[in-house]
Parts: sequence; structure tokens; C-alpha cells
Amino acid sequence: MGITGIKGMNDILPGEIETWQHLEEQARRIFSAFGYREIRVPVVEKTELFCRSIGETTDIVEKEMYTFSDKGGTSMTLRPEGTAPVMRAFIEHKLYAQESISKLYYIGPMFRHERPQKGRYRQFHQIGAEVIGVDDPKIDAQVLAMLSHYFAATQIPDVALQINSLGCPECRPAYRENLIEFLEQRLAVLCSDCQRRYTSNPLRVLDCKVPGCKEATLAAPAMLDNLCLGCETHFKQVREHMDTLSVGYTINPRMVRGLDYYTKTTFEMVTGSLGAQNAVAAGGRYDGLISDLGGPELPGIGFAIGLERLALMLGEQSIEPPRPELFIATLGESATNAGFAMLTRLQRQGFLVEMEYTGKSLKAQLRRADKLRARRVLILGEDELARGVAQLRYMDSSIQEEVALNGLENRLLNEILDA
Ligand code: HAM
Repeated sequence: MGITGIKGMNDILPGEIETWQHLEEQARRIFSAFGYREIRVPVVEKTELFCRSIGETTDIVEKEMYTFSDKGGTSMTLRPEGTAPVMRAFIEHKLYAQESISKLYYIGPMFRHERPQKGRYRQFHQIGAEVIGVDDPKIDAQVLAMLSHYFAATQIPDVALQINSLGCPECRPAYRENLIEFLEQRLAVLCSDCQRRYTSNPLRVLDCKVPGCKEATLAAPAMLDNLCLGCETHFKQVREHMDTLSVGYTINPRMVRGLDYYTKTTFEMVTGSLGAQNAVAAGGRYDGLISDLGGPELPGIGFAIGLERLALMLGEQSIEPPRPELFIATLGESATNAGFAMLTRLQRQGFLVEMEYTGKSLKAQLRRADKLRARRVLILGEDELARGVAQLRYMDSSIQEEVALNGLENRLLNEILDA
């Protein structure tokens, strides 16, 4: 058996990649219109970055990171998400000194050592967007408007936006204590994971998929009912602005995110069509993250879209490769050389043109032209070359005519551009 790829890390093949390119192009187009600029950061960072931002007691940091020591003994981690690396770069390059509001987006692979299943992989790809420097609720609504617009523009079916507020350092500690007290009384029926984490990360218990935990926490207090005045007002205004912008949503008071940096507005775009992996995009506000990482006191908000999940939802049909405008079939060495030169000239003009390079029979060449679904075939033999002509066949109509080589390329270029 040859060497195979790594479990949970997928190849994206021609036929599939066109869907990905479509999803990425739409993101670039839409995000640019909303004023975002691309940032690219490395796929590896110092482990400490993720421990400090995502949180020591989260599933990601506790069990899912690809962490290793490099040759110099530094602990490194393949990035499990993009927000922390982007904030690290933002602080390191003092982007805040250039503009009071930074809008950044990124596209790339992330790595989490989860159990692979449909829609959940160990290398997966995100399109993420982050706005730094504005705490006004208008920006929360605008981020959500852009996300919803992206889903509409890419025609992803069957998605719904859920929002929640996770409070802030003013109101969350008291709520957390309340929740711990509530959970303490039900400890015996919680799963072993929740029994372990109910004091270190009690909010995660609300998100546990084990039926016993779900049932035991049905009546648990919700953060949404315990917001301080500032968070409550913020959340109310976010909803008002969303209404003004006609962004549809439902409130999910039980939504808990798997990363600790969130404050106030959080959200998920969910679908009913992917089974357990129902979040196709998610994000929220992270007002304390930049200062926690050693940067200035600046608020932030953003989201990440899971590209594999979107590609799955757009269907598994393989997209046909583009049709060559011309296939050049040749017979004899000098005709082949002349055809090869013409091929390259037309390709340089930006047109998809193909030929067979290895001197196969005319029949074999025409078979390949058929397989590639070429729109036209130019048949060029030694005699024809000597007479300065060739046979041009239009494959869809089967019309064939003798054409002069002189001026042929211009004629083809005009014909292709007019089509
Ligand atoms: P997240 O919820 O961990 O948030 O991931 C965002 C999205 O990435 C998920 O909704 C899902 O579509 C996709 N995703 C996550 N894990 C996997 C996986 N193992 N396989 C396939 N897809 C996956 C974040 O990563 C935050 N950084 C989002 C954010 C940006 N918050 C603020 N700014």
C-alpha cells in the first residue's frame, strides 16, 4: 500500500475545488465592499497564544491542539482557529496606530484533533472576519448583516441565525456563581466531563450533548436573564439595528461558545441538514481579548465560517471543468510544431486551448478533444500546412470548413470574445 493522507485531513480535488473557489471569491467580493482587507498569518504559533486566548479549560486547549516542541524546544501549536493569531499580528504590528477601526479577513486551514465525522475534520478551513476598535452595537448588527448576506449570495440553503449575549466581566462572575450553585445540586446526574468542569467552566455544561446533562440543566439560569444594564442595553440595540437592516434571527439563551474570549453578543449560523455538526459559522464579541494578549484596550467582534460544511451543503456534485475553446489536432512533425506554437500564442491571450503533445493518431486526438468537450477542433496536416490552410470543425454543430492559417488566430479570438 502506498502512502496515504492523514485521517481527518482531506484533499480537495479538481471538480470539488470550483465550489471552494466560488465560496472564497464571494467572500472576497462581499467583505471588500464592507471595507475588510485580507490578512495572512502563519499556521503555527506559540502554544501560549492559544492557551491565553481560547482558555485553558476549553475542549480545544485541553484536548484538541496539535502541539509539539520545535528543535529549539519552543512549544508550538498548529492554529486551531484564526482570531487569536490575527489579534497577535494586530498587536505586534501596531495596526491600531494606523487606523482607529481595523476590519480584517482571512481564509485558511485550521487544525483540531477531534474525532472525524461528516462535517468535522482535523484540518478544516475557515473564512473569518474581525472588526477591531468599535463597541457600538451598530457594528454587531453590521457584522451579522454581512454574514447573512454572504449566506444569501452563496445560496446556501436552510440556515438560520441564532444570537445570544454572554455578558461581560461585570455581570458574568455573579451569574457563574449562580450557575455553579445550580449545577452543584444536580452533580450526581451530570456526565463525568461535566462533573469535572462544572466549577472551572460551568457554562460549557449548558452545551453538553449528553441527554442526562441536557435534562438536568433545562431549568438552569440563563446569562441573558442576568445581564448588567450595559450588556442588556447593548443587546437590545443590536437587535434593533438588526431589525432596521432586516437581518432575521432567533434568540438562543442556551448558546454557549467553545472559546472563552467572548463577551456580550455571540452568534451561530446553524443548519438542520448536517446532523450533529450544525454550526456553519459562528462568532461574537471579544472586548477583553486584545488587552489580555498585551495590546491596547480595544473591543473586537468577528466570526468564522466553516468551508467544508458549506461545500457539503452545496452538494457533492462534481463541477465539470471548463470547455476548451479550441483543440489543435496535428499530423506530422512540422504541423505539430506549428500547432504547438499557435497553442501557446492563444493561451498567452488567455484562452483555454489544448492539444495532444505526443504524436498520437488523429483518431486518438479527436477522441481526446471529444472527452475535453472542446468547442472547436483545428486539424492541421503537413499538406495543409504547406498550402497555408487547416480544417476547422465546430463540435456542437459538426460544421467543418477549410480556413486560411493567415488571419486564423484573429478570427478565433474575435469569435471567442463575441460568444
Ligand atoms: P468556532 O465556533 O470554533 O469559532 O468555529 C467556527 C466554525 O468553524 C464552526 O461554526 C464550524 O463551521 C467550523 N469548524 C470548527 N471546527 C471544525 C471542524 N473540526 N471541522 C470542520 N469545521 C469546523 C472560531 O473558530 C472563532 N475563531 C470564530 C470567531 C471569529 N469568533 C470571533 N471571531
